[in-house]
Amino acid sequence: MKLFLLLLHVALPLIGLTDAGYITFEEMQGIIPPCGTGFDCGAVLLSKYSHIGPIPVSILGLLYYATLLILGSLLLLEIDVSKWMPKKLRAYTSTQQLYTLITSFGLLFSMYLVFIMAVLIKGWCLYCLISAVTSATLFFVSWKYFRMTQNSPHSLLKAVSQKTIGFLYQNILKRILFLVDPEAVHNQFTFFGKLLGSFAITRWLTSIVFSYNSATTAVVKDGILFPNKMGLCAGFDYNGEMARILGPVGFGWHTIGTVTYQPYEGNPKPRLGRLPNSKALIVNKGLKTLGAKEVARRLTGVQFTVPVGISIASTNAHFDSDQEQIMDIVKGFLVFEKSHVNHSYYELNISCPNTFGGEPFTSSARLEQLLTVTDSLQLSKPLYIKMPIDQSEKETLQLLAVADEHNVQGVIFGNLTKDKNNPAVTPEDRKVWKSRKGNLSGRPTFARSNALIKLTRDNFYDRFTIIGCGGIFDTATAQAKLDAGADLLQMITGMVFNGPQVMGTINRELDLKNK
Ligand SMILES: Cc1cc2nc3c(=O)[nH]c(=O)nc-3n(C[C@H](O)[C@H](O)[C@H](O)COP(=O)(O)O)c2cc1C
Repeated sequence: MKLFLLLLHVALPLIGLTDAGYITFEEMQGIIPPCGTGFDCGAVLLSKYSHIGPIPVSILGLLYYATLLILGSLLLLEIDVSKWMPKKLRAYTSTQQLYTLITSFGLLFSMYLVFIMAVLIKGWCLYCLISAVTSATLFFVSWKYFRMTQNSPHSLLKAVSQKTIGFLYQNILKRILFLVDPEAVHNQFTFFGKLLGSFAITRWLTSIVFSYNSATTAVVKDGILFPNKMGLCAGFDYNGEMARILGPVGFGWHTIGTVTYQPYEGNPKPRLGRLPNSKALIVNKGLKTLGAKEVARRLTGVQFTVPVGISIASTNAHFDSDQEQIMDIVKGFLVFEKSHVNHSYYELNISCPNTFGGEPFTSSARLEQLLTVTDSLQLSKPLYIKMPIDQSEKETLQLLAVADEHNVQGVIFGNLTKDKNNPAVTPEDRKVWKSRKGNLSGRPTFARSNALIKLTRDNFYDRFTIIGCGGIFDTATAQAKLDAGADLLQMITGMVFNGPQVMGTINRELDLKNK
């Protein structure tokens, strides 16, 4: 099929070239070519519409088909013309993209000519109709072929649509959304995401516009094939309601949760706030969840489109002892171990700062206790620890040394920051933050997360899969995390500030950069 379509990229322009060449030749002789009954070639070819300025439309047709013949031949020979283009245009000018673009204009022009014949001239020219049919077929052939190869690095459709959506989001939609309570906006997005994820057609359409995967964006870690490195961190889809749309939106993987064994209705409102000047969110959800059993029940049988993980922590409640709290975490794991949910990994969230009693397992002695118990569970999936970022390098190295001794495959740097002196927070935003409960995501977490990624890579080499999380907003910030040593990436706040197209754009741009 693919080869047949490719051959049509050459054969159809040849037909068009013959047709346009014949009319041009006859016109130059001053002859109106013979037309069949029911046609009136003279009325069309002698009309004022047969020229655009001094140029006969048939000559434009000749040029159009000749260009397509050349591009079609290059396509057949697998010669990519983008390498001759200015660097900035290379992402948009592969041979296939140019071909499709030109046939799109060709189709529009043909439609204009058919309109002229049908409405203004009220007469038909056989050769013009042959050209119109050829143009339309060319468009559909080239579009079909483009769709088949759309996951190639040069995807014009995605690049253009992502730029348009980004522009509209940042200049119109975000301005409106940022006037509304953040949790209400999140609830609406969850509803909409759930709806889009419910139908194959909407998932497919979403993926055409948003997601970008290629052979080179894919990475295998801990036996899991991630179609791209850009994941959604815990906290956005905390009850797993958007699980079927997050892949099509562009994430290569995503974490559901944090889920705790017992349900929790969340800390008192307001639980979310925005600090636009510091590009941060104030988070005080306190592990709002329907509880492990209900989330597992809802996810059972769901076919995920990309690898999915479950983030687990202890229920946001008072515990009489560490042992009781650890058993609560164990019960959370066991619900998913015994379930038929198709998840690929676990996150162990030891660092949520908005819970009762703070972060109970961020001291090495307590982490040792917890991991000794999780080891005994012999979990069936890889385990990644969600790390705090406000601890000192010494404390972080101690926690990593503990994790090193246990059945832990990866570490995520990291969670929210509670550092009220964080230099990335503007003085005005610091005042707002001090008047509110909660901790910050986004830009204030960026530098610290990068430093801890590097610390881990420098001290533990390839021991852990390192997941960079905190303050990714675009390709440059994602690249900074990879440069620091991250294997995989996660984000939330960047998507809230820059729009839902940002993951696809990062993947596309990283892919092109690495070629
Ligand atoms: C609204 C919100 C809720 C969050 N909830 C959780 C959570 O339940 N579990 C968790 O491990 N991290 C949670 N986080 C922290 C994020 O997973 C992430 O570590 C942090 O936001 C930094 O990434 P970002 O700058 O890309 O948002 C939450 C973050 C936000 C913004």
